[in-house]
Amino acid sequence: MSDLSSMTPSERRFYEAGERQERIWVFIVLILLTVMTIIAMLYVVIDYNLVTKSGGQTPVIGQMTTDQAQPEGVAVETGPNAYTVSLVARMWRWAPGPIHVKQGAKITFRVTSADVLHGFEVQGTDINLTAVPGEIGLVSHVFRKPGTYYIICNEYCGLMHHAMASPIIVDPARPEAEAAQ
Ligand code: CUA
Repeated sequence: MSDLSSMTPSERRFYEAGERQERIWVFIVLILLTVMTIIAMLYVVIDYNLVTKSGGQTPVIGQMTTDQAQPEGVAVETGPNAYTVSLVARMWRWAPGPIHVKQGAKITFRVTSADVLHGFEVQGTDINLTAVPGEIGLVSHVFRKPGTYYIICNEYCGLMHHAMASPIIVDPARPEAEAAQ
C-alpha cells in the first residue's frame, strides 16, 4: 500500500518509518547472506585441516590388513611409550574388536577406509579426522584417564552409520594403582 495521499500526516510518518526499517532489515539480511556465502567458500578454498593428512604415506589398504607388523586394531609399540594403531574403517565398523591402549602413552592412529568416507571421532577427546579410501590419516593422542572411549562415525556412510562405534579401552599405566582405588 503506497497511496500516501489518502493518509493523515501521522499515518504517513508511520508508513515512511516502517518502510525505512524494512529497507534496513533487508540490507542486513543481504549483508549476512553475503558474509556467510564468502565464509562457506573460504572453507572450500582454504585448508582448515578439516580433512585428513596422509602424512606422506601411500595407500596400503591391503598391506594394513595383512602386514603382521601392523595388525588391525592392535597397539604396536613404535618407541618409548609410543604406540601405533592401524585401523581400516568399513561399513560399519572400525576394528575387529576392542582396541587396548595404555594410559599416558602417545597413541598414533593410522586410519584409512576400505569403502566410503567415514568420520573418525573419539568421544571425550579432540580426535576427529576423515577416513578416506586410499589415504592414511594420522592422528596422535595421549589418553590421560583409563576407561572406555568410543570411536564413533561422524560422516554419514549408509544404513548402519549410527551404529558404527568401536570401543577403545585405555588400560591403567599401573594396574595396581587402579585396583587400590
Ligand atoms: Cu561410518 Cu558413518
